[in-house]
Amino acid sequence: MATQKETQGFETGRIDTDSKWYELYQKGIELGTWDVEKLVDKVGFKDDLDTWRSLEDEEKEQWARLIAAFADLEQAVAEDGRRIIEQMSSPYLDDNIEKEMYATVFTMTEAKHVQFFDIYINTVMKDFFPQSSLDIRRGGHPLPRTAACGMSDLGERQGAFMAAAADGGDPKDIARAATIYHLGVEGVAARGGYYMKNQMMSEAPLPLLNKGFQFVSTDEGRHVTHGLELLNELLEKERAGHPEYQGVDQVIWEEALETLPLVMDTAYFVSDAIDDPLGADFNGLIQRGAELWRAQYLETLELESYDPNAFMDTVQEAVDRFEDKDYDALIERNEEIYSRKLQEGVA
Ligand SMILES: [Fe+2]
Ligand SMILES: [Fe+2]
Repeated sequence: MATQKETQGFETGRIDTDSKWYELYQKGIELGTWDVEKLVDKVGFKDDLDTWRSLEDEEKEQWARLIAAFADLEQAVAEDGRRIIEQMSSPYLDDNIEKEMYATVFTMTEAKHVQFFDIYINTVMKDFFPQSSLDIRRGGHPLPRTAACGMSDLGERQGAFMAAAADGGDPKDIARAATIYHLGVEGVAARGGYYMKNQMMSEAPLPLLNKGFQFVSTDEGRHVTHGLELLNELLEKERAGHPEYQGVDQVIWEEALETLPLVMDTAYFVSDAIDDPLGADFNGLIQRGAELWRAQYLETLELESYDPNAFMDTVQEAVDRFEDKDYDALIERNEEIYSRKLQEGVA
């Protein structure tokens, strides 16, 4: 496995510097070491606070709906980070040290994303997040806005499949977990969130939030690449005819369709359900989402199960379902649950 990096004039012994996982690791070391505290120190909160205080309540509500999803889902993926490390040493994945090296950097970046959004909602958006201290998993509860839309179901589903995959899971378990985690949450949901964030920023600029998002989205780009690499590795084994890997293609497609309505529900919750005061643009998002979807599942993974009609049917069913939902009532009910849990002293 010894390789040589001729341009840098060094050699390695056990580490394969030609590996894609090494490349991801190295990028993570180079780009993923931004420091949240230094960032907030450098940019400061003043401009964000000025904008925030100038917003109407419904505009603040729209930002709060979007950022609640990031605050909770970043924590959900960070908590599952340890499972990524376990998963990387699965006997069903090609055993290599580069994967494990990469996984350590991966986990660190997710912790920083949690840190950034926690600081942000508690410093700038405090009036819309009077309570945010509960741990989403350890007997706690998602933020009331997250719990009112598809995001909390997405987080729970991810946790359950990641646990199954890390706990001696077979290739199909690993494929299902990687699909929801890297393609569903980090791929489609987070990228949809960036799209809405960009639209909303032009109406209500929040420079620190924007800068943080820039770092987060660069990190997440590597995480999605990791997911696609991992799934491609499993698919190659299935296509080569290894019996234990049969069904991976089908499971990836099934999970893609299961997560889609949860992501769409959230996008609607953040935009048209509150008349989209900052122009997050639900329709534009759906169009962008459909392109991403095709790029991930058809162009990159080349899934045999890919079925554009099933995609369109799932989109239509999702639209029919969320148009009648009373999200305000759901937020209110979840605020009560949140307060009760806090009083009980949970987490
Ligand atoms: Fe993240
Ligand atoms: Fe991530």
